[in-house]
Amino acid sequence: MNAKPPTTFRHAFAHGTSDRTLLLLHGTGGNEHDLLSIGRALDPQASLLSPRGKVLENGLPRFFRRLAEGVFDEEDLIRRTHELADFVAEAVERYSINQRKIYAVGYSNGANIAASLLLLRPGALAGSALLRAMVPLIPDVLPDLNGTPVLLMSGHHDPIVPPENSRRLAGLLGEAGANVTLRLENAGHQLTNYTIDATRRWLADRP
Ligand code: MLT
Repeated sequence: MNAKPPTTFRHAFAHGTSDRTLLLLHGTGGNEHDLLSIGRALDPQASLLSPRGKVLENGLPRFFRRLAEGVFDEEDLIRRTHELADFVAEAVERYSINQRKIYAVGYSNGANIAASLLLLRPGALAGSALLRAMVPLIPDVLPDLNGTPVLLMSGHHDPIVPPENSRRLAGLLGEAGANVTLRLENAGHQLTNYTIDATRRWLADRP
């Protein structure tokens, strides 16, 4: 029988002093280093696992293909979501991560694949902070997210993610049983100090 080949992602890993790990997922054009300082500010004790998206759009890394702004290649998204979940499972072994304490923190494209992980591989994450996320896909069968904490930090004036889309995502995750907090702030698509501070406080309430 052939062993499954390891799922490789270029990534950064920083050991923390607590048993929580933040899975940091960058936005389009980012890389594995992008969110490390934000991750450290969000939880100074957590380990940080930060993969680089493998899809290149005009040379810019992403986590899955899109056909146009906000129009996703669903087949690719599904495949890449499972690939990322497999990578996380392998990182659990490699870095002795507590699998039950992995929180995704994703921005934009990274938030969208984190939402897709929740919807397609519900066991992979203990919780998720989705910064400027939109509905990535609607699964045929809703997962059982059974109280999984999810924070959505969205912008009232986001030209890429209209607030109505954030509300739909909150509704979808809530219908699946997640414990969703949706915060619409007076901002656009870019992260603000408020985004980081509210996310830090949300994480601190869930040690
Ligand atoms: C982006 O530019 O990354 C989009 O807003 C989100 C996405 O394409 O997933």
